Amino acid sequence: MALYSETVMDHFRNPRNVGVIEDADGVGEVGNAKCGDIMKIYLKIKDDIIEDVKFETFGCGSAIASSSMATEMIKGKPLSEALGLTNKAVAQALDGLPAHKLHCSVLAEEAIKLAIQDYYEKTGADYDKSQFPACDSCDHGCCHGH
Ligand code: FES
Repeated sequence: MALYSETVMDHFRNPRNVGVIEDADGVGEVGNAKCGDIMKIYLKIKDDIIEDVKFETFGCGSAIASSSMATEMIKGKPLSEALGLTNKAVAQALDGLPAHKLHCSVLAEEAIKLAIQDYYEKTGADYDKSQFPACDSCDHGCCHGH
């Protein structure tokens, strides 16, 4: 059996939503200290809907495929739905990732959450901080002072 599904290969070869949103409403960046990969997500938000999303991923193929799939899954969706996106759902939508590559999809979940948190912080929204990854328990070294 091939290590990577056709869907993973498709999103790796033709990633959707690659790029930068210059006037993004929220930006989230995470890194994994162990593999050194970095993912950045940009969101354009209007009326609590994700109107546009772009990503830059300096990382492995699974991280690129996960960013591509995750951005497709949250585009046009309300923030509440995007916040509920789990790395498992991303991996499932990719028709699976090898076990030792599941952490790559975690980057996508966390980068999206941080981008939404950034938006809430910028707009001064009153939000539930417990919905977001707690920086003090994280070993990614990615917090940038959050
Ligand atoms: Fe680092 Fe995939 S190996 S994100």
